[in-house]
Amino acid sequence: MDNQTLPQIQTVGVVGCGLMGSGIVEVCARAGYQVVVSEVSQEALHAGLGRLRQSLDKGLSRGKLSQEDHAATLDRVRGTTDLEDFAACDLVIEAVLENLEAKRQIFRRLDEICPWHSILASNTSSISITKIAAATDRPEKVIGAHFFNPVPVMPLLELVRGLQTSEESYQALRAFGERLDKRIVVALKDNPGFIVNLLFVPYGLDAIRGLEQGVASMEDFDTAMKLGMNHPMGPFELMDFVGLDTMLFIAEAMYEETKDPRYAAPPRLRQMVAAGMMGRKSGRGFYDYRAKG
Ligand code: 3HC
Repeated sequence: MDNQTLPQIQTVGVVGCGLMGSGIVEVCARAGYQVVVSEVSQEALHAGLGRLRQSLDKGLSRGKLSQEDHAATLDRVRGTTDLEDFAACDLVIEAVLENLEAKRQIFRRLDEICPWHSILASNTSSISITKIAAATDRPEKVIGAHFFNPVPVMPLLELVRGLQTSEESYQALRAFGERLDKRIVVALKDNPGFIVNLLFVPYGLDAIRGLEQGVASMEDFDTAMKLGMNHPMGPFELMDFVGLDTMLFIAEAMYEETKDPRYAAPPRLRQMVAAGMMGRKSGRGFYDYRAKG
């Protein structure tokens, strides 16, 4: 199927402008797509667009884009709090919290709003695409498009086909991902965690269990993996970066599906999330970022 026969994607919708959503908006707008991004309130939208501007400013300061690109990228982005505005989108990428019911509600609404040709993608990293697709009358046009934080920097895009995802939708998302200058991997099964989180979630949870068992200090776990395995961040730094609430949601989704003890969230993680210690985004997680501002 050559690119000419694929559904043409010109306008992209992104549901959610959080840590991941704002990064997805950035890479789509920088690649030249018109982007509509939604949030649940004007306040959340304002915060999300602020994250977008901050990231573009950082890219500008690091010489990753020109002043013209910076301005042109922002010009391509329109914010809204009304999902009806996605009626103009050829592709919509949902990037909200890792909760199946929340995603199903959004996909049900998008199915009613978006034109029949539109492809509906989820940035989920652990929830079954098949189950999300079942909320729509277009399961053949529903696919997983999993980006990695920080989206402008991490070159990977993980595609996940649901049981009924069509070859046309898959090829259209491959071509789209390549236009975003992403390297594509494909999860061949709609299994919990797909490829990356199948490995990352047990790794992170085992680090927490090791800390609880007194194997080593948190700092030494991180140093060990940075200096011993050449990781850019150690497990605790990385979980703080991803968000402990996200880690918990993903682990719970995977455990719910498999009952595999490797994905059972340790009590420490639940307690931290209950205490509002979400990692970098809340100022405190395993490490305290408040002093660093
Ligand atoms: N736009 C463009 N480029 C940017 C940028 C931005 N907003 N922010 C940073 N960069 C570039 C910098 O210019 C730099 O590139 P250069 O070396 O060519 O100049 C490079 O990115 C590194 O950035 P920094 O120097 O500012 O920061 P660090 O060197 O400390 O790296 C990091 C920060 C890239 C986050 C690095 O620590 C890292 O890669 N950490 C691991 C991240 C990771 O594993 N993410 C995946 C998490 S799992 C996930 O997301 C899945 C989900 O389902 C949970």
